[in-house]
Amino acid sequence: MLLEFGHRVFAVDIDEKRVAMLSKGRSPIAEPGLEEILTRGVEHGYLSSALSLEEAPEDTLAVFICVGTPTTDSGDADLRYLMEAIRGAQEYLPHAVQIIKSTVPPGTNTVLRQKFPGVSFASNPEFLRQGTSVKDTLKPSRTVIGATDPRALEVLRGLYQPFVDAGRPVVEMNEPSAEIMKYAANSLLSTKIAFINEIADLCEAVGADVDDVAMAVGLDSRIGAAFLQAGPGFGGSCFPKDTKALVAASSALGVSSTIVNAVSESNERRRATLAERVVAAASGESAELTVAVLGLTFKAGTDDLRESPAVDVVAGLVALGCDVVAYDPFEQGKLAQVAPEARAAASPYEAARDADVVVVATEWPEFAELDMEKLASLMAGADLVDLRNIIDIEAATAADLSVTPIGKPRSDPA
Ligand code: UGA
Repeated sequence: MLLEFGHRVFAVDIDEKRVAMLSKGRSPIAEPGLEEILTRGVEHGYLSSALSLEEAPEDTLAVFICVGTPTTDSGDADLRYLMEAIRGAQEYLPHAVQIIKSTVPPGTNTVLRQKFPGVSFASNPEFLRQGTSVKDTLKPSRTVIGATDPRALEVLRGLYQPFVDAGRPVVEMNEPSAEIMKYAANSLLSTKIAFINEIADLCEAVGADVDDVAMAVGLDSRIGAAFLQAGPGFGGSCFPKDTKALVAASSALGVSSTIVNAVSESNERRRATLAERVVAAASGESAELTVAVLGLTFKAGTDDLRESPAVDVVAGLVALGCDVVAYDPFEQGKLAQVAPEARAAASPYEAARDADVVVVATEWPEFAELDMEKLASLMAGADLVDLRNIIDIEAATAADLSVTPIGKPRSDPA
């Protein structure tokens, strides 16, 4: 975004491979449209990168701190990397404003100001989604500036002026409000997903269809249709972490967070029982089942396997004694890291060969377009478990396959 706005950007990471790629204008992550921007930046001399802030230009105006804040065993956000990055910025760029992009617990900026007197801090939460990050960043629903320090406020107002000019909302508030709104937004979205997943279980119990229910509920503009897609539970590097961190931060402040705690627990319970769901659909003995899992990433459009429900399915099935074959468009050896006992396949059809059950675990569009006749001819069994509700049920049953979706009745061949 900064490159697109015409700024000079100096990118720092401790990962040598990432820095090597960035310095060639290559993207270390799979994000549509990102590499083009990076390549242009390097070609025009606007983007450079290094392993340390020591090499950053002295007149650097602002440092965006974007390091991870992973979950500790107690559910808190681990601020180790954040502190290291801030110390580095303070040492090498003492006059730069430090902008906290990382998601941090409420009150962190207040602590930072006490810990690093003389540094101008601001909170500037991030709302991009993986897979659509370029679009989300260049056309954000809103930009939140959490700053009371006059210099930080001035710098951020300047950087985000193009959004103001384009009529996009840029809102200002104090730092703790900005910190809390980020957790509140992610927790509310997580709540919608956990909620519709529980409704999906209810639908299964009485023969209702969760997609119809969600559609009709979402038509109420006070509720909205977004984030009501039932599935295997939410994953990724944000929702599971941020819901837990909100609970931990509230508890540390003596505030109860019953709702978000229940959301987090409900989601964990769901993800822990996905493998049993698959075995139940096949009504076989798990030790005798060969299962093909289609999809490994936590959602489509990304190469990220962190906290992926699809990986839970693979690991759960392996633990139950199933023979598991998995396919993902972004496989590239990643399966071996997360579930070495499972075998990798080069295509969905190769995965399905001799399988008793085929499970759709990630909503990659190519799985919605599978040739059902071909799939059926390759499989040993005839069960499809669709954890994303993307399979064409009519085509599947016409090919003599049974489909067990989420939140709707199982469909068997006529
Ligand atoms: C999420 C938020 O959507 C972003 O706004 C936020 O900036 C980001 O976290 C972050 O905090 O950095 P992301 O983790 O990339 O973005 O992915 P989402 O598209 O939100 O999906 C998260 C999980 O929820 C996925 O596992 C997805 O499959 C699941 N999901 C999403 C559903 O099960 N149903 C839905 O209707 C929507």
